[in-house]
Amino acid sequence: MAALRDTKPAGDFGRHGDDAVDLATRHLIQPWPVAGSAGAEARALIGEGDGIHITDGDGKRLIDGPAGMWCINVGHRREELARVMYEQAMQLSYNTPWYTMNAPSAELARRIADHAPGDLSHVFYTTGGSSAVETALRFMQFTNNVRGRREKKLILSRGGAYHGSTYLSASLNGRPRDRDWMDGADGLVVKLTAPNPFRRPTGISRETFADFLVEEFRQTVEEIGAERIGAFVGEPIQASGGVIVPPDGYLKRIREICRANDILYISDEVVTAFGRLGHVFASGEVFGLDPDMITFAKGVTSGYFPLGGVVISGRLLEELRRSNHPDAMFAHGLTYTSHPVGCAVALKNLDLLEDGILAHAREVAPYFQARLKTLEGLPLVGEVRGMGLMACVECVADRDSNNPLELDNAVGKRIDRHCHELGLLVRPLINMCVMSPPLIITREQIDTMVAILREGISRTMDDLRKEGVWDG
Ligand SMILES: Cc1ncc(COP(=O)(O)O)c(C=O)c1O
Repeated sequence: MAALRDTKPAGDFGRHGDDAVDLATRHLIQPWPVAGSAGAEARALIGEGDGIHITDGDGKRLIDGPAGMWCINVGHRREELARVMYEQAMQLSYNTPWYTMNAPSAELARRIADHAPGDLSHVFYTTGGSSAVETALRFMQFTNNVRGRREKKLILSRGGAYHGSTYLSASLNGRPRDRDWMDGADGLVVKLTAPNPFRRPTGISRETFADFLVEEFRQTVEEIGAERIGAFVGEPIQASGGVIVPPDGYLKRIREICRANDILYISDEVVTAFGRLGHVFASGEVFGLDPDMITFAKGVTSGYFPLGGVVISGRLLEELRRSNHPDAMFAHGLTYTSHPVGCAVALKNLDLLEDGILAHAREVAPYFQARLKTLEGLPLVGEVRGMGLMACVECVADRDSNNPLELDNAVGKRIDRHCHELGLLVRPLINMCVMSPPLIITREQIDTMVAILREGISRTMDDLRKEGVWDG
């Protein structure tokens, strides 16, 4: 096999940088566009990646603060992963999962089941996170139909949630602005309060807030009736909602209410699985949960190939096999379900995680959190929160009221612009900056990352003062 770097595919694309930006503004629709620039938008061109760094179209090297979209867990340019994709494609690039199968998908399912908590023993593969959530929900609908509980279909979700961009998964989303201009399957979804301690009512403790959330959940089940509720879907840590770490013990209490009412607990680990919190799955190891299903994507291949999936309880499958409707079909499957190249790269990615990267992530995480926490000394910063290698810096106009709204809502983008100049890509989210670098980041690199972020926020504070929109 020729050395992979000899072919330089990414480098070739990178060299046509000017053309690419020009072409994009004429032909490319980027995700999450606004109407005023849809189909005509130039975003920062990225030409190369290496370790925790990426290089932009001007040749500027940046720390990849969000690790792509929470996914480049083992870092960019891992030759082992590139090689295994090449080798698998040369051996078998694809087979129909409708009536054939391949070995990498079966082997990966076994290894995922070994890591999964409780009785989660079977894997259904998808192409990413949205299709994983969609699959879990359609499976809930199917099993309830087969079991003769056609009314038990409502889905409980929460403010601050992000579960995807397909119709049903997007209907669960609870972040501000996501649904302003979009339709959804509202009749199927019931939204509960965001478990965000930073935005809890003033004067109540975190414990009291947790009690409120649990009581709200319990009452909702009582009012609607458990016979109408099929599932609860929740991220252990709400990621794109701003790295919302829920109050201690709250998730376990919700799990128990679900169990008592035969409501399936779907833990959406699209972000938290495969190392972000130092374990393959966080539900069991970090939160003491045994969900009925776990959805995953992103870090399963470290973003090298689009793959996701759902790990499903063996008990649920056993119940299906024993039902009175052996011919009832789960009419659900994607062309790329169980893709051999995706599963092969996921196996190698899992080797890398198990062979040291998970341990490294656990070891370096407290340092990462502690260093970022020092940013709370800046007057614009209301809170720095997080767990493992995911964190959020939330800016506020006024630290007494924690009010984000008086402040220019694009403050995250302002910070990102300064940080880009200084060598760091930030994930701006309205008034927040989310940080979730590749798990291989070292202490020294964390120092650099935090120093740049500090300077980026300081420059933003100067701008806001000069413009007269903030006097903190
Ligand atoms: C928790 C969670 N679930 C689902 C999704 C959707 O995944 P995808 O974009 O791969 O469809 C995301 C994406 O960020 C996510 O954060």
